[in-house]
Formats: sequence, structure tokens, C-alpha cells
Amino acid sequence: MSSFWDKFSGIYDLNEILFNRSVNKQMVKAVESEIPKGAKVLDCAAGTGMLSMAAAKKAGKVLCTDRSRKMLIQAMKKARRKGVYNIAFARRDITALKDPDNSYDVVIAGNVMHLLDDPEKAFSELVRVTKKGGKIIIPTYLTRESGLFFKLCIMIYKLLGYAPTADLYTEEYIRFIEKNAEKNCCAEYSVRLLLGNIPAGFAVIKK
Ligand SMILES: C[S@@+](CC[C@H](N)C(=O)[O-])C[C@H]1O[C@@H](n2cnc3c(N)ncnc32)[C@H](O)[C@@H]1O
Repeated sequence: MSSFWDKFSGIYDLNEILFNRSVNKQMVKAVESEIPKGAKVLDCAAGTGMLSMAAAKKAGKVLCTDRSRKMLIQAMKKARRKGVYNIAFARRDITALKDPDNSYDVVIAGNVMHLLDDPEKAFSELVRVTKKGGKIIIPTYLTRESGLFFKLCIMIYKLLGYAPTADLYTEEYIRFIEKNAEKNCCAEYSVRLLLGNIPAGFAVIKK
């Protein structure tokens, strides 16, 4: 999987802006509004850092992580370009995080659950590293609800090596959040929809 993201890293941001600008804008705003001032934040599968940068506006410190080294290099360049200094970078596999239990006030995993062989393992890792009373934010593209043009683009990406494990729609995403929030004994959760070319679910789970 990472090799596709390594290859794609140089044009990922262009793709994000061209194809799903409105949803990504809503996502950035929604993440920023969920970050308490001074919070310690972990962003998993952060890619080129769109949500890390949003969190960094209010966080004390953000650790921006991804399995792809080249996506992280793009994120580092972007942070430097934007003058964001409360951010550090590290490679991490979301299904086997190196961080101790109860480490972060907020943990983000954006647009990755539909790419994983074992998203339930990732969910339990996100909960494990979040402090009690902290938040887990899981925005996820609902690709099955996109229009024909975007479905075609996704098919082309698949020919280039993009290998999602799920083609999510709203009810399926809500069921995933519900099931795993309960399984991991989370106190509460909310889900809302961000509408646009490729709509996204935006879940906030309280540990
Ligand atoms: C669609 S991009 C999302 C990037 C970013 N979160 C965003 O919303 O713009 C998916 C990212 O997940 C990363 N990824 C895929 N599998 C992963 C894993 N097991 N652990 C960590 N990152 C992973 C890829 O390298 C890629 O950067």
C-alpha cells in the first residue's frame, strides 16, 4: 500500500484541491474546531498533513505520522512553507502504534479506515493511545456516494495501484463507528456528514 502513496505523494495535494476541495475545506474547519487550546495531538495516516496543519492552529504540539516516508516529506515541506513549528514528524503504522497508552488529548485518523486490512485493530490502537476524556476524530471519504465522474477517477487510481479495502457508504460508516466505539468502551460518539463531490463522514468519539 505505501508504495502507491510514495509514488503519489508529489501530486496528492493537487488531487485534494481539484477533486474534493469543498469537502476537504469543511473537514479542515471541523478538525480545527474540535481541538482544545494547547492540546497534545497525534495525527495518524496524516499523508501530506492537511489535518495536522489544521490541528496545529490550536494545539500545543502535533505529531504528524504516516507509513509512507514520501508523504511525510511532503508534509514537512508544507509545514516549513507555512511556518508551522509546533509539529513533529514520525513514521507509524496505524495498526501498531509505538506510543504508550493514554498519551494524547486528541487523536486523528483521516481518510484511512477504508484502506486498511484491519480497521478494527486501528480503531482500538487509536483509543488505546488517547487519554481518558480525550477525543478520537475519524473523518472518512464515503466513496460509494460519489458521482460517476469521481467513481471513474477512483477506477483509474486502482489501475495505478490504489487498493482500498472498502467502498464505504453512510450507513456502513456509521455502523463501523458505532460498533467500535461500543467495543472499545468509549463514553460517547457523534457522526455528521460533509457533503460534496466525494462526501465524507466525520466522527468524533470520546474515550
Ligand atoms: C487518502 S490519504 C489521507 C491523508 C490525510 N489523512 C488526509 O486526509 O489528507 C491515506 C494515507 O494513509 C496512509 N496509510 C495507509 N495505510 C497506513 C497504515 N497502515 N499506517 C499508517 N498510514 C497508512 C497512506 O500512506 C496515505 O498517506
